[in-house]
Amino acid sequence: MKKINLAILGLGRIGKIHAENIISLNECNLKIIIDPISDFDNNFTELGVKQSKHFDDLLNESDIDGVIICSPSKYHVSQIKSLSELTKNIFCEKPLGLSIEEILDVRSLVAKKNLNLHIGFNRRYDPDFSELKRCILNDEIGDLHMIKITSRDPAPPPINYIKKSGGIFLDMTIHDFDMVKYLSGSEISELYVKGGCFVDPEIEKAKDVDTAIINMSLKNGVLATINNSRKAVYGYDQRIEVLGSKGVLKVENKHLNKVVKGTGEGFISSNPQNFFIDRYEQSYKKELMNFVQSIRGDLVDHADADDGLHALKAGLDANNSLLNNTPFLV
Ligand SMILES: NC(=O)c1ccc[n+]([C@@H]2O[C@H](COP(=O)([O-])OP(=O)(O)OC[C@H]3O[C@@H](n4cnc5c(N)ncnc54)[C@H](O)[C@@H]3O)[C@@H](O)[C@H]2O)c1
Repeated sequence: MKKINLAILGLGRIGKIHAENIISLNECNLKIIIDPISDFDNNFTELGVKQSKHFDDLLNESDIDGVIICSPSKYHVSQIKSLSELTKNIFCEKPLGLSIEEILDVRSLVAKKNLNLHIGFNRRYDPDFSELKRCILNDEIGDLHMIKITSRDPAPPPINYIKKSGGIFLDMTIHDFDMVKYLSGSEISELYVKGGCFVDPEIEKAKDVDTAIINMSLKNGVLATINNSRKAVYGYDQRIEVLGSKGVLKVENKHLNKVVKGTGEGFISSNPQNFFIDRYEQSYKKELMNFVQSIRGDLVDHADADDGLHALKAGLDANNSLLNNTPFLV
């Protein structure tokens, strides 16, 4: 079978994860990495991967089967447009774009050029969250009543990243908005946000919040709530609970180890896994395989431009709700 030739745009935190996962797959070849700023990474050079600082070097490559965009969010849409001349298989990290207009543009481009565009909502591929979804579809908890998502980072990213990220709702909560849609099968219809800055005054100066609670109603009548923090001192806190007419489904944190120690002082366990790179390791591998299978022509489930639009709208309206201190229709 012919190897699938892939390229990476942007070799930062997430670009390195995708690059390493591509290299671990026998059926793929990482042909080129483009990053206009970062130094070349010798580990990839030694493995025969070309590296360049110039986007045009990618456009001049022949035989590229797909590209994975891992650049800062503000470049995503313009890069999708340019890459659509090179390949129809494009994987773009979340968020797809930072404005509704630009995502609508991308959606039209996808239809016009029949692009196979995947959005990096990797949590859909987490084995526990997929199982949660399977149980819901299998009617194991009956009619859905409520979805409760806890999503807290262990520490905020550097302030320069925050300033370019589009804010907490587009950078962080966007995964949770997508998870609400993925699990419920329904879009958000209304939301109301409360937020504040408790972690770092620099985040407040950047006109962002680091702590937020988002209450939502969905188009199918289900209620949902997300709580976010940029800093949970005990580690990466990722939990979901879904309540239905016949029962409840829960995904708890994955801990550094499974030992629970009981002594005269009480019971203790280890902290949750450090951050997204560890907690969602499996999901990144599975979403890459899913993209590769779609390049081979298989019909696969994946987040698309409509999902990117839904999550962005929710994120923008969350900002509006916070600023105006009022519920917002999405
Ligand atoms: N799915 C996830 O779990 C997840 C996790 C982290 C980040 N992300 C998303 O991935 C994207 C990158 O985030 P990150 O944390 O890796 O950021 P990062 O700052 O660590 O890396 C971004 C990289 O892109 C490079 N770059 C800058 N301008 C570029 C351009 N014009 N073209 C190509 N590369 C360029 C930078 O030099 C840097 O190496 C963001 O959109 C972010 O929202 C997704």
